[in-house]
Amino acid sequence: MLRSVVRGVGSALPRRIMKNTEFEGLVDTSDEWIVQRTGIRQRYIAGDGETTASLGEAAARAALANGGLEPRDIDLIVLATSTPNNTFPATAVEVQQRLGIRHGFAFDMQAVCSGFVYAVATADAHIRAGLCKRALVIGSETFSRILDWSDRTTCVLFGDGAGALVLEAHEGEGSVADRGVLAASLRSDGTHKDKLYVDGGPSTTGTVGQLRMEGREVFKHAAGMITDVVEGTFAQAGITADDLSWFVPHQANKRIIDASAKKLGIAEEKVVVTVDLHGNTSAASVPLALDVAVKDGRIRKGDLVMLEAMGGGFTWGAVLIRW
Ligand code: ACO
Repeated sequence: MLRSVVRGVGSALPRRIMKNTEFEGLVDTSDEWIVQRTGIRQRYIAGDGETTASLGEAAARAALANGGLEPRDIDLIVLATSTPNNTFPATAVEVQQRLGIRHGFAFDMQAVCSGFVYAVATADAHIRAGLCKRALVIGSETFSRILDWSDRTTCVLFGDGAGALVLEAHEGEGSVADRGVLAASLRSDGTHKDKLYVDGGPSTTGTVGQLRMEGREVFKHAAGMITDVVEGTFAQAGITADDLSWFVPHQANKRIIDASAKKLGIAEEKVVVTVDLHGNTSAASVPLALDVAVKDGRIRKGDLVMLEAMGGGFTWGAVLIRW
């Protein structure tokens, strides 16, 4: 039985760090408010020459190096983003070109902050179906370019960056002890689309638009939706929260992360938190957090790792991986 096993992980961040105090001259806010309400202390902001494609390429190269692989070893790229370099072609295809890959196929995945979780589940399905052997799964974003920098309720929350995983086809018995993607649960519900959206687009305004969010409304739904999909993957795999080694949630708000872990009965010391360092990087947040926890030695081969995210749409999802 084919399954997809993690072969490498990597990430990339823009050169510029922006601390909370730098907002104090821009909008009516404070470091204290941002830290208390969100847990965010700083974020990275893309500068000249830094784009979703360039950050995605750098994260991909780091993941390939981590797995001892070359670009020619890859035959699928799925890139999750809501901030593509162009309306089309897909940024995944630009990353493919930057990596010098001319075989296989590449496409973008648009599920806002849940994009990376959707992309892992999608790449896994392609591998299981025998459509490819090694997939680069990338989450890359430059949200700083769609923010309204005069709106204090949103501009302090987001940052830029990219992370990537390489998934590789292996034969396995299909047991929970096997390494690889074990279970996935994906959801969406468009009735919530006006709570978190970008107010422009090629088919409506002909503009790129800016991010708009009813933060309190999103907050209200987040923990319940996250719990729903995480428990769905627990049931599929026949495990409980106690079996998990690590919980790697979407990094939007420390209070949402804490509330979700508590509701799920996941111990605090198993939760990977990087929102303080990166802010909310949308589809890049889960692979950025994964890379931090792998590089600092927390996540090791054989660990049971739960990824989850919730975002615009609403979309939400979870993926369980034996690392
Ligand atoms: N600085 C100071 N005050 C602020 C700021 C700021 N940056 N932003 C808002 N405030 C004020 C508000 O105006 C409000 O003032 P008022 O009471 O006078 O009206 C007060 O602070 C409280 O505002 P709330 O919105 O109730 O604050 P809350 O505690 O809900 O925190 C936040 C806001 C951080 C946005 C929170 O609601 C949140 O994290 N929401 C979820 C965001 C999220 O998870 N997104 C995930 C998906 S992201 C994606 O898919 C792209």
